[in-house]
Amino acid sequence: MLRQPVLIASRSAGKLRELRPMCLDAGIVIVSLDDAGIPEAAAEDAIEAYATFEDNALAKARYFHDLSGLVTVADDSGLEVAALGGAPGVFSKRWSGADVRDTPALDAANNAHLLQRMAGVSDRTARFVCVAAVVGDGRARTVRGEVAGTVATRVRGTGGFGYDPCFIPIEGDGRTFAEQSPQVKAALSHRARAFAALVRELSQGA
Ligand code: IMP
Repeated sequence: MLRQPVLIASRSAGKLRELRPMCLDAGIVIVSLDDAGIPEAAAEDAIEAYATFEDNALAKARYFHDLSGLVTVADDSGLEVAALGGAPGVFSKRWSGADVRDTPALDAANNAHLLQRMAGVSDRTARFVCVAAVVGDGRARTVRGEVAGTVATRVRGTGGFGYDPCFIPIEGDGRTFAEQSPQVKAALSHRARAFAALVRELSQGA
């Protein structure tokens, strides 16, 4: 069991909401960037400059570990759509190109862009991918979680964040992630799977 607190290096309120109970259940004390007194810096935008989720997650975890000295967990995630050759992938967050920082407006622009790119496309296969990295408790390492699904033909639901209103998980009941309860998403999601693997890693040590 890891006795040191773990810094969760994410500015996303949606991710923190999902992660906190999982870590609590595993007896892992987590610290947010706000708790650690690390204000948002312009340099953060340049960290995730790599072509893979793995390299981006490791870069983010190393950056915040260097600032905090704490065992640090970071993740990189996104949506991969088969008919779009795996796009938006690592570019999911700002894919639409909309020049907004406000998260709901950014999400709405991304979802509109996705539906427009998928108009008339019959193969709607997609998956969410999440890679979590841990740095600072020995060997830096990553774990991956995925959830398979399809892209809806219109946005549905108000829960979750990001592309949730457009994503229908295969293991669900036909509703989008944004229409599901947080509990259902927490049980199925790519992040839940990556972090379940990560919690096992942290519990065992490097
Ligand atoms: P990042 O991991 O913070 O770089 O997130 C990349 C982007 O992928 C987010 O801004 C969302 O648009 C999308 N994304 C990642 N995870 C999810 C999810 O669980 N639901 C919906 N969208 C997600």
